[in-house]
Amino acid sequence: MQEKREQWSSKIGFILAAAGSAIGLGNIWKFPYITGQNGGASFIIVYLICIAIIGLPVLIAEILLGRTTHRNPVGAFKALSKSKFWIGVGGMGVVSGFLILSFYSVIAGWAVGYIIEAANGNFSQFSTGELAANHFNSLITNVTWIVGYFTAFMLMTMFFVYLGIQKGIELGSVIMMPILFILLFILMVRGITLEGSEAGISFLLNPDWSKINAQSILIALGHAFFTLSLGMGAMLTYGSYMSKDDNIPLASFQIIILDTVVALIAGVAIFTSVFAVGLDPSAGPGLVFHTIPATFVKMPGGYFFSILFFILLTIAALTSAISLLEVVVAYFVDELGWNRKKAVIILGFVVFLLGLPSALSFNLLADYKIWGKNFFDLVDFLASNILLPTGGLLISIFVGYVWGFDKVLLNLKSGAENLFEKHPKIILTWKFFLKYLSPVLIFVVLLQSLGILELIF
Ligand code: PHE
Repeated sequence: MQEKREQWSSKIGFILAAAGSAIGLGNIWKFPYITGQNGGASFIIVYLICIAIIGLPVLIAEILLGRTTHRNPVGAFKALSKSKFWIGVGGMGVVSGFLILSFYSVIAGWAVGYIIEAANGNFSQFSTGELAANHFNSLITNVTWIVGYFTAFMLMTMFFVYLGIQKGIELGSVIMMPILFILLFILMVRGITLEGSEAGISFLLNPDWSKINAQSILIALGHAFFTLSLGMGAMLTYGSYMSKDDNIPLASFQIIILDTVVALIAGVAIFTSVFAVGLDPSAGPGLVFHTIPATFVKMPGGYFFSILFFILLTIAALTSAISLLEVVVAYFVDELGWNRKKAVIILGFVVFLLGLPSALSFNLLADYKIWGKNFFDLVDFLASNILLPTGGLLISIFVGYVWGFDKVLLNLKSGAENLFEKHPKIILTWKFFLKYLSPVLIFVVLLQSLGILELIF
């Protein structure tokens, strides 16, 4: 017999779980370094525009699909359309969940390993950024280290999903997200009270428009998707545990605000510290794993703050990984009638196997390249640059054109009656963005990812 489908026990439980999905490595690891590489303040402005005109409309659409159907991505499309194509779009979301989780957990494993490195006082030897980078390289080329922490992180993720929606995901988010906010706040205060931190603030506040070009706009747009967990049904699946009287536009707005504020505060915490100790802000992907440890050694209380920083990074990654695994588990539970516990154990193991070649891309398989990319980069590229934008594009087309817009509005209105009555213009704007703006802009990102724009221009 199918168990009764669970629901979030409270509105705030849903908001924190969804914000937990959105707030992840994307906010604390990726956002600061792409901002550093693309001109600081001007990039942030472009990014905020992308979040507002694409992120928010697509987020509302995804949550609505889930809440209306109470199903996983495949089941949701099945409930609303007979076409194999659209059901396949749901299937693509489930596949993306497997893929993203497999490489995401490898990086998240580094964060776990770095809590231990920090606690062991290993950062104290990092008198230069270069020494920190060398140490990092020696760790990721160590197979036992990388696979060990990857496994530990996967087990932590499985633990919460195993316990179910209310007792696992919701309770975990309600406990972990406030801790994340507090840690971030402490690190921001530490950053801005350092001598010389003003340089970091002005880097974040003074726009350098010369760095903004088609490429950086596309990076901002692509990141808007990744950071809001859009395009693969994570928000759809979380929406499927919502009740009919929850206000979707309002909840979406709150999730976006939390995600954006966390990214910005992470930027402040990181850049004030990096500038104060005179290191390079444009270090790229290594920013968090080399520059940050080298930064902490140079500041008072650095030992303590570095531990907090990597706990923060681990929590952020964990609440995101949970949402990725939940998409996959929900599919096997809803569509194939598996029980949740069995699904978590089997699927967790499958993700582990899939993640192994990604973990080994930094050592044993480093020279093994497909299309010029190692396995890790290939899966990351395929998922983040191809599958997520394609999923987002198709979701906005489905909700904008295929589902039937009167049904869309009817379902969206449930729980948001006040908004529909008092601010009908907001709903019209949403419709306009979703139908016309988002699909076109996402399509451009996709062409760029595929390298087609470069062929034309
Ligand atoms: N939003 C997460 C982050 O910023 C990543 C993610 C993508 C999670 C897609 C779920 C789905 O790190």
